Parts: sequence; structure tokens; C-alpha cells
Amino acid sequence: MCGIIGYTGKGRAEKIMLDALELLEYRGYDSAGIALLKGGSAQIVKGTGRVRDLRKLCADQKPEGTCGIGHTRWATHGGVCDANAHPHRFGHITLIHNGIIENYRELTEKYGLEGRLKSETDSEVAAAVLEHFYTGDPYSAIRRTVLKLKGTFALAIMFDDQPDKIFAVRNVSPIVAAVTPGGAILSSDVAAIVPYTAVYFVLPEFHVACLKPDGIEMYDLSGDREEIEWLKVDWDVTRSGKGGYPFYMEKEIMEQPQVIEETIRPRIKDNMPDFSSEGIPDKVFSACQRICVIACGTAMHAGLVGKSLIQAMIGIHVDVVMASEFMYNDPVVDKDTLVIAISQSGETIDTLEALKFARKCGSPSISIVNVKGASIARESEYVIYTNAGPEIAVASTKAYTTQLAVLYLVTARMAVARGLWGSEKIRNFIKELLRVPEVMKKILDTKDEIHRLAGTILNARDVFMIGRGLDYSILLEGSLKLKEVSYIHSEAYASGELKHGTIALITEDTPVIAVVTQEKLKSKELSNIREVQSRGARVLLLIKENETLDEGEKWSCIYRLPQMEDPFMVMPASIVLQLIAYYVSLDKGLDVDKPRNLAKVVTVE
Ligand code: AGP
Repeated sequence: MCGIIGYTGKGRAEKIMLDALELLEYRGYDSAGIALLKGGSAQIVKGTGRVRDLRKLCADQKPEGTCGIGHTRWATHGGVCDANAHPHRFGHITLIHNGIIENYRELTEKYGLEGRLKSETDSEVAAAVLEHFYTGDPYSAIRRTVLKLKGTFALAIMFDDQPDKIFAVRNVSPIVAAVTPGGAILSSDVAAIVPYTAVYFVLPEFHVACLKPDGIEMYDLSGDREEIEWLKVDWDVTRSGKGGYPFYMEKEIMEQPQVIEETIRPRIKDNMPDFSSEGIPDKVFSACQRICVIACGTAMHAGLVGKSLIQAMIGIHVDVVMASEFMYNDPVVDKDTLVIAISQSGETIDTLEALKFARKCGSPSISIVNVKGASIARESEYVIYTNAGPEIAVASTKAYTTQLAVLYLVTARMAVARGLWGSEKIRNFIKELLRVPEVMKKILDTKDEIHRLAGTILNARDVFMIGRGLDYSILLEGSLKLKEVSYIHSEAYASGELKHGTIALITEDTPVIAVVTQEKLKSKELSNIREVQSRGARVLLLIKENETLDEGEKWSCIYRLPQMEDPFMVMPASIVLQLIAYYVSLDKGLDVDKPRNLAKVVTVE
């Protein structure tokens, strides 16, 4: 999950690439570098640290040129050090790489590279193999090299004697490219391209693109010229900035009412759920006997909410499987299993590989993806795009709630397709879904109160989050948010399970966040909360605004959630937990958008 950029044209490649790397930095940020091709060689400037540190190196070393490649790294092979930063150079070859070349050791041996490499990376081995095959024809060298590589790669390559040209080839790891005014550009994702143009294309796997100052040519591996399938960015380009917020995470939390509206409105016609624009026939929803959701992280937590909704309202079994585990646990999926792959980036390799496996088993598939044209979207039979717009913060917020919005619509469409609900029930469900944006706005208006609540756990070492059923699913996501942006150890626990062991960890003043939003679970949840309170826990309770509580109860603090039908309470509760995590990280002075060790898109298994 690194960020790659390439530019060739009339502009100043150094500036264009440094600006682009800043937009790509959320993909990986332990080191960065650029290389500029000029006068038959490449000048490389690179080192550990952020893009701002690379800018300082460039100011000192003053690289010149109008053709170059650049990279932000999330280390996979080899530690974080200057030598392992990209770009890498070997002989006539300069390249950058995103992915993992699994057979780099065999290649090192096969091509006698021991003692000739300057880094510990698999990427430099790829450069050396390219050099081995290079006799003046880039396409031939690339074709012969690619056939030797095992694993995933997005490669951007410059050859010393091919001035002003950048070559690119990929397998699984993403590359998009575009023609800009007076040049051509490639990147790991469209965020770095939109400042120049809204028209781009996704480089198909095992195709070679050649970027030149006057355009782009594309060939298949046998050397035949191929037509480029152009796409258009359909979100507001200006929305890719911070919009005046200190961090993207806050901006993206605040955007949720708008993007949820933009996600659900196009799929509601005459107050009925409608996926005709996605071309999904009702038989996909009516024929399946079970559902299997595959996803990672926050997307998986969205799947857990989908499971609760569909099982409760449709009555079919839903499995939610961690994509990284899916293929290794003998999954039982077949033509009667509808597979739903959920992914903000649409490039998470664990989810992509699991989806490919499920499709080989004959399962029909729908993906819920935020990035148009992403690999997972193209791999699935049908795709429902969330209209969240670019999500830059590593911690996913608006992508999560728009995934939920789609899952509410899928549940409703499934009820229609299976003839389970009358039109009145459907209309009421859709009416409640359409209330979500306004309810979220009410919560966002209380963000200062939530900021104060966040202050109660600012210095905590451990935070427990307890709830049952849907509340437990909400807290799994809330706990991940807190962990990944504040580095506080947090554990979401099914509150009924506490007494089977974990309650041993509750001592005087242990902070516990409890969510109680489901009427059918309330009394049990409240008694579980009393169990931890009686052992000294300091409880922050999230509960519906009109719930009555025993006067005698001592709550360290309560946040009253605006009232919605129980299945929809996920939305208001989630946004409160997002803000709590955000404010804790902000007040701890952390880099909220780029937490340590993380990257926005996980394209390694
Ligand atoms: C979410 O806050 C995390 N950054 C992470 O868990 C993320 O949800 C996960 O990596 C899946 O990413 P995807 O949605 O792009 O597939």
C-alpha cells in the first residue's frame, strides 16, 4: 500500500510529483523519494520521513527534469531506511513499486544478484531483472520480466535511453493514468490526478502503458496496441482538500449527512429502494439462500450491521467473514450464496482475493465500493458505489456510514424482491432512512459536548466498550476508531460475555463506554453496566434521548442520542463514537489523518 506517481510533460516534474505525493501520503508514509530522468540518467532524491522531509532534500539537491517518478512507502520488505526508500536504480533502470514480489529471493539467486543490490527490497530485484532483459526494447524487457514475477506489483519504470517516457505495468496493485494539459500522469489512485483532469483510465492488469509528453499508448503483453477505456471522476474535485478543517478526518465526519443523502437518494424511486441504475436484477436478491459478506476492518464492521438487518428482516443466514481469513477456513460458498464484498478503496487485496475465490465457487457477487473503477468493483458481477467522495483520512468514517446506508437499501430491496414486506412497511423503512442525514446533523451540532466527553478518556490506558447485538457491532467499529487514531488500547465486548472472564480487568475508575439503543436488549445491557459499575468502572453511556433511567443510578456521563427506529440507531451512535475518537487523538496532539504504522489502502496480504 504505497503511493506511486509518475509525470512527463512540459511542467516541472519535481513540483508536480511532490504535490501529488502529499495527496497520496495517506497510502504509506515511512519514506519517500523521486527520480528525474535527464541527460541519459536519473537523479534520485529519497529518504526516510514524510513528503515534507523529501521537499527539504529536493531544495538542497535541486533535481531537474520534466520526466519523473515518485513514491511514498509503507514498508513490506526491508526496514525503514534511506536505502530501502524508492525509487530504486539498477543499471539503466529506475523504478518504483507498490505490492509484494513473493519470489524475490529465487530471482536474486537466479540472476546472480547477491552482493549487487543496494537495498533489502523486493522492488530493487525487479529493477535488476528488468536490467537483465533490457537490450534497448522496453516492451520486451517488461514482458519478459513480468512473466518471471510472482506476486503483486504496480511498477512505474524509466529507462535511461528512453527520454521523456515512463512505462507502467501492474498485477493487482492499482495504477490509474491520465493525459494532462501538456503531459501525462500516472498514480496509485485518482486523488493525485484530479487536480489536473477529471478524465482518467485504470491500467488493466498485464498491460503496458507508455506515458509521453504528448499522450499515452497502451499495449498488451504480446505487444498489440490496445484501446484505452476512459473514465470520468464524478465527485466534486474541490472536495479533495481539507476544506478548512485541521484534519481530513474531521472534514469527513462532518460531510456524512451530505454524502449519505447523495448515496441513498439515487436509489430511491417513488419511496421504494431501487437498484435499476446498478443493473442488479431482483433475482439476485430473491434467489440466494444465504449471504456471505467479505471485508476487512471498518468495512467488515459495516457488514456486521448488515448481518443484523438482513437476518432480522429477511430471515436468511448471513456470514460476515474477515477477508484475510476467508480462503483459509474452508468457506462454504456456492451458487446459492450471495457474496457481498465491502471495501472503501476497492483495492484491499485480502478482500479482492477472497472475492475471486468466491466467484470461482460459483457465487453471485455484489460489491459495495467507494472508488469508481476499483479492482473489487471490476471483479464483482454487480457494484453499488457509495457516493462518499474521496476519503483521505486513514480512519474510515463517511465510507462506513455510506456503506451502512447501502446495506439498509439492500435489505429493503431484498424484502421487496422476496415479497416479504407490504408497500407501507417499505415506505416507512425508507422514510426512516431518509431521516438519517438530519439526525446526524443534530449530533454534529453537539460536537463541543462530545469533545468534552472525549476528555474523560483522554489519558486512559485501556477503554472497554460494552453492548449487545447491534450495539456490540456499533462498538466494534467505535473501538477500532479509538485504537487507530489515539493509540489507546480499546476493547469492544459483548456485555453478556463480560462475566465469563474479562470483567476481571475492570477495576476502580476503568473507563467503560456503553451503548444502549435496542429496546429488546436494554434491560440486560443496563444490568451488565451495573455489574461493571459495582466494580468501580467509570461509565460513559450512549442512550436514546427519551429513555428513562433509575434516578439512583450514578453515570459518570450520559450522551442522549436523537430518537430513531432501533435498527437505524447505528447511525447516530456511530457518529458520536467517531467524534470521541477524533477529539481524543486531536487533544493528544497526534497526526489524526496518518496514524503510525497504518496506511489507507492495504494492498498486501
Ligand atoms: C478503517 O478505519 C481502517 N483504516 C481499515 O480498517 C479499513 O477499513 C480496512 O483496511 C478496509 O479498507 P477498505 O474498506 O478500503 O477495503
